[in-house]
Amino acid sequence: MATRTPADAFVFFGATGDLAHKKTFAALQALVRRGVLTVPIIGVAKSGMTLDQLKDRARDGITRFGGGVDEDAFAKMCQLLRYVDGDYADPATFANVRKELGASQHPLHYLAIPPVLFGPVSSHLASAGCAEGARVIVEKPFGRDRKSAIALNALLHAVFDESSIFRIDHYLGKEAVQNTLYFRFANAFLEPLWNRQYVNQIQITMAESFGVEGRGKFYDETGALRDVIQNHLMQVIGFLCMEAPNWEDTERTRDEQVKLFRAVRSLEPTDIVRGQFRGYLQEPGVSPKSTTETYAAVRLQIDNWRWSGVPIYVRAGKHMPVSGTEVRVGFHRPPQVVFREPVPPSHNFLRFQINPRIEIGLNAQVKADGERMVGEQIELLAIDQQPDEMTPYERLIGDALRGDGTLFARQDSVDECWRIVDSVLGNVVPAYPYEPGTWGPEAANDGLLPSGGWHSPRIASPQ
Ligand code: BG6
Repeated sequence: MATRTPADAFVFFGATGDLAHKKTFAALQALVRRGVLTVPIIGVAKSGMTLDQLKDRARDGITRFGGGVDEDAFAKMCQLLRYVDGDYADPATFANVRKELGASQHPLHYLAIPPVLFGPVSSHLASAGCAEGARVIVEKPFGRDRKSAIALNALLHAVFDESSIFRIDHYLGKEAVQNTLYFRFANAFLEPLWNRQYVNQIQITMAESFGVEGRGKFYDETGALRDVIQNHLMQVIGFLCMEAPNWEDTERTRDEQVKLFRAVRSLEPTDIVRGQFRGYLQEPGVSPKSTTETYAAVRLQIDNWRWSGVPIYVRAGKHMPVSGTEVRVGFHRPPQVVFREPVPPSHNFLRFQINPRIEIGLNAQVKADGERMVGEQIELLAIDQQPDEMTPYERLIGDALRGDGTLFARQDSVDECWRIVDSVLGNVVPAYPYEPGTWGPEAANDGLLPSGGWHSPRIASPQ
């Protein structure tokens, strides 16, 4: 099907699950409110619930996690909602989905279910006549290493062609992440500086002040590198470092992302530090002998003309001192010391805050008031705002309903991102313990220290 054909039904596997409860129903309500979602919504799950119970659960989720119920939009969403209760291994479940689809020819299937079910659910969809002309959104994690991602792709490709597969990475739906790409290419002044001649390092910190929050089992099989670096933060690097895309053309844009990922060197054990917060082993669902990392720091290198020799340091961790995600692009010092004062290695830098606020700031030295030629650091703030009320899920499901795949990960880019981390997954280096509320294990500072040290996200009031 042409990817621009709008979907005429939204089929939602995992409708009673955690993701649906916390995020998806809120996104659906918002899409209904904006008039983007007007087609039947068919929830599918095996829960023994009735349609009314599903509506109650949706209301509860939107109230507690989704910013509150909008009675008008909620009522409209409920009018569109159907529910099929059944086992994903039972063909009868899919016959019922087909019945609910009625005359629909271009359903959008959303697989908010564990990846082991992607294969069986896709093939049942095909056998029941629900796959032709359809698109499918698949949730992360997309595989647990390069090999399993290839196998997962093969299962999906047996039923759906690549242009019909929408791999969700909610970071691509974030306003702040899109703004990094926009800011780079909508302004001329940055381009001459955006390369190895002027940039001396890039740092990305994704800090979360909380732990695994009841997701112990999932997290223990995943770890920080798979959970947020291989996917979310690599996508940020893609937007930050790729060449100019042809934004009107989805595939050309995704080609540029892949080109960049192909140039990123595969990580070696000396490029990674792993940590585990003290107390992790007592979390429900976590194996008492687990060596899974709740903190990872890596050093990436891009072997291309623009970025050769510029280290990219990325760290992500649970139970850090603050919650915040920030990118810092540091520039070289001026060539000559004109003013006799100590100059820190990265005294000029551009800061992109992705969480909790959307901020872009250029940090520079200005002369401090007085007789002496000494300076102080100031920041020229280009943008400083709360994220828009449109959540990443709302944005991305809306795009998928329209058939726009630009902000979804294509097979080859997922494959490259796995290739980059593949050889350092698991226990290639020990996971050092760290105290909750600190910036990870000391080893991160010994083995993998950016020049000038790690910079923490600038958070007005720690949360
Ligand atoms: C999810 C991870 O994909 O992203 C979580 O599984 C993480 O562990 C979350 O907390 C972070 O997303 P955001 O939008 O809050 O930065």
